[in-house]
Amino acid sequence: MNIVVLNGSPKGELSVTLQYVRFAARKFPEHTFTIFPVAQTIRKLEKDEKAFDDVINAVRAADAVLWSFPLYFLLVCSQYKRFIELIFERNAQAAFAGKYTASLSTSIHFFDHTAHNYIHAVCDDLAMRYLGAYSPAMFDLMKSKERSRWLSFVERFLDGAARRVPCARVYPPLAFPDFIYTPGPAAHPVDTAGKKILLLKDGRQPSGNTEALADALAARFQGAAEVVNLMDIDIKGGCLGCCKCGLDNVCDYQGKDGFIDFYNEKVKKADVVVFAGAIHDRYLSSRWKMFFDRSFFNTHTPTLIGKQIAFLISGPLGQISNLRQILTAFGEFQEANLAGIVTDESADPTEIDALVTELADALVHPAASGYAPPMTFLGVGGRRIFRDEVYGMLRFVFQSDHRYYKQHGLYDFPQKNYKARRMNAFMMLLTRIPSVRKKFLKILPQQMVKPIKTVAETR
Ligand SMILES: Cc1cc2nc3c(=O)[nH]c(=O)nc-3n(C[C@H](O)[C@H](O)[C@H](O)COP(=O)(O)O)c2cc1C
Repeated sequence: MNIVVLNGSPKGELSVTLQYVRFAARKFPEHTFTIFPVAQTIRKLEKDEKAFDDVINAVRAADAVLWSFPLYFLLVCSQYKRFIELIFERNAQAAFAGKYTASLSTSIHFFDHTAHNYIHAVCDDLAMRYLGAYSPAMFDLMKSKERSRWLSFVERFLDGAARRVPCARVYPPLAFPDFIYTPGPAAHPVDTAGKKILLLKDGRQPSGNTEALADALAARFQGAAEVVNLMDIDIKGGCLGCCKCGLDNVCDYQGKDGFIDFYNEKVKKADVVVFAGAIHDRYLSSRWKMFFDRSFFNTHTPTLIGKQIAFLISGPLGQISNLRQILTAFGEFQEANLAGIVTDESADPTEIDALVTELADALVHPAASGYAPPMTFLGVGGRRIFRDEVYGMLRFVFQSDHRYYKQHGLYDFPQKNYKARRMNAFMMLLTRIPSVRKKFLKILPQQMVKPIKTVAETR
């Protein structure tokens, strides 16, 4: 069979993920793996329609397609995202329809599931036949057990494609409402109390009601919000994945474009940051993705601690729970307060006006105290992955993270809790005695609530 591999790493041949493909190609010599570095060559594919058509024609002639990509900021990188946008913009969907497909990523398992959900949904939108996701940790291929596991996946993928097994669509098609929002007068302007408000809006077309939503919110702040169009920020290109930022947070683009200064001077210094954009396929635009990817010069440290943030979204967010999870997780690992998400989905201008007014209030009031809610699984789990990776294998590459994690007490490994270790050893020994065990199980519910009950009743 002829397998077309769409390589989604900006590093092209130097991609870690691609080594999994090369390994599989060597082990299955009866099949041909044709690799296209679509993320690395995105500029050419955008400008040169012939180069883009060459990729699409290869897909059209293929028996199966493999999406091979690194995780970038809970999704694929902006360059790969742009390639996906081009498929739809240039009406190339037919080349993908009916093709068997699978997705392969490498990562540190930080929101790898949201990236694969995204690709799976895109495959469904392209009428492809999706056979599954494979998401190893970066260097799993170095372990023999993991190599066997990967080959089993590839074998099943090739077999499924050869036998043309039935595949169910998992993500229903999106319905984009055809509604034009015209905001009413800002009936209830909000006193910003000197807070710095930054409203970032995506000017990439089609932007739906992004502009109107941003205007409506800005009007509530009586001109006190600084509104910046993403297209006006001097961003020369997407993150290259070089990781030069790891040592001292100095990006390879430093001095070459305006993004780093913009992020340091405007985003980090704002009290309130609002992100406005329209849905493009199953995420925001690739321009927004480029913005988030480039903010990786801060590596694995939060940059919006205690800030109030919000999203204004034009498009069917309610039909894309994966995207909502990404936006929520973003707020959590940034240690910010996600004050709200307002969309235009209700298609009711009065309701949207009211939601925007309430959002303006919500953004300004908690800002006085720098309120941020406790993290859920998304933030807690994500932070622990970062902690373990930065403490472990990634430390010499991400030295500035290591310094930050040490200074901010993020190396909170439970094994350092000597009190808990002593108590566990003692209690585990005691509960081996049958009579103690019986009594222990009887009093457990009361004992568990006792310390916190005392706090609740006395503090
Ligand atoms: C800008 C950037 C963002 C990243 N974001 C994530 C992420 O959200 N989750 C994750 O698990 N790994 C993340 N990574 C790690 C890469 O996914 C990982 O290093 C991958 O193996 C690189 O693959 P490649 O060499 O094929 O490009 C990120 C790396 C970079 C440079």
